[in-house]
Amino acid sequence: MTSQRSHSEAETARIAEALAARLQPGDVVLIRGDLGAGKTAFVRGLAVGLGAADDDVSSPTFTLMQEYRGGRLPVYHVDLYRLERAADVEDLGLEDVEMGDGVLAVEWPERLARSLPDAIAVEIAIVGDSTRDIRIGPWPAGREG
Ligand SMILES: Nc1ncnc2c1ncn2[C@@H]1O[C@H](COP(=O)(O)OP(=O)(O)OP(=O)(O)O)[C@@H](O)[C@H]1O
Ligand SMILES: [Mg+2]
Repeated sequence: MTSQRSHSEAETARIAEALAARLQPGDVVLIRGDLGAGKTAFVRGLAVGLGAADDDVSSPTFTLMQEYRGGRLPVYHVDLYRLERAADVEDLGLEDVEMGDGVLAVEWPERLARSLPDAIAVEIAIVGDSTRDIRIGPWPAGREG
């Protein structure tokens, strides 16, 4: 588990870019944090770090998902905020989409009824107007969502 302080959206993106350099096909990144913490900013940093185009395209098969392509690995970005109830991973069809070739990044993973195995946890805490603490580590074993 590492903890880093960010003082700007650009710095958050750089922290994400550093993580992106270590990602492998099939990796899952679960990003937690309050509204406006910078979860989407972090995902954009992942995509930039992987060299993906900054214009994203919607997935034809999964409407909650945005795909960022053209880089070292594709990024599959899912934002579960609008889900009304805790959803099972299989209900969402996440496993139906061919994602093993890329990186799955999930905002609001608390909405999942159960977590995805072997995920990397990113927790963004709002410290001040433009200050964030970003913790990156293994998803806590045995913890739901
Ligand atoms: N250090 C920082 N890191 C990231 N974003 C920051 C930082 N400081 C200020 N911000 C601002 O906070 C906002 C973060 O927005 P973003 O959409 O990334 O949050 P989010 O966590 O995805 O929110 P939501 O839960 O609504 O999806 C942006 O307006 C950004 O400019
Ligand atoms: Mg967001």
